[in-house]
Amino acid sequence: MDNKAFFDLVYGVCMLSTKYEDKINGCIINTCVQVANEPARLAISCINGNLTPELIKKSGIFTLSVLDSTVTFDVFKRFGLQSGRDVDKFEGIDHLLDEQGLPYLAEHADAMFSCKVVSSQDLGSHTLFIGEVLDAKVLSPEPPVTYGEYHSRIKPKPQTVEQKKIKGWKCSICGYEYEGETLPEDFMCPWCSHPASDFEPIYE
Ligand SMILES: Cc1cc2nc3c(=O)[nH]c(=O)nc-3n(C[C@H](O)[C@H](O)[C@H](O)COP(=O)(O)O)c2cc1C
Repeated sequence: MDNKAFFDLVYGVCMLSTKYEDKINGCIINTCVQVANEPARLAISCINGNLTPELIKKSGIFTLSVLDSTVTFDVFKRFGLQSGRDVDKFEGIDHLLDEQGLPYLAEHADAMFSCKVVSSQDLGSHTLFIGEVLDAKVLSPEPPVTYGEYHSRIKPKPQTVEQKKIKGWKCSICGYEYEGETLPEDFMCPWCSHPASDFEPIYE
């Protein structure tokens, strides 16, 4: 099986929220799809062990904020890269409440859906929930953001390895050390005659 084939699937991204007793929580998901329209039903898939599905199982309700293209990495960091077991994810973020009392985003969302769970299935790594849509609103004219855009445009690029200054090169075959920042391409080790490609940098 070529796992790269999965990268060709296209997804939107939502902030999925729920509430059970006093605990309000939400997480980022890229696995929301409309699966029926009479009645309107959405499917979502949640990683087992996370707080959000644990609360959804108890409350039987969830709300989706469909993220739009103005969304910034902060929103992903807040909802998708930490757990509500450790922090209050809604503290200090602008949000509104739907009729079920569940929070949805006042900014960076182009639509919201309030749902009640009508079925769920444990799929091993994830639990699939099917929700019947009780209410839906268009919130902004911005286009929805895609999971692909999250990876290509929103997620910070990995930091380039700290720029370290090269002071010399060491032959990985015999240990000979060449002094100087630039090793000539046609250099050959005077001890073992191996080429420049067998040398590794020595940093300051
Ligand atoms: C871009 C992105 C997409 C994600 N998609 C999903 C998803 O489809 N389902 C899911 O359960 N978690 C998904 N996650 C991971 C959860 O948002 C993350 O594990 C979160 O910290 C769970 O928080 P919680 O323990 O408060 O529920 C995604 C995260 C990111 C950043």
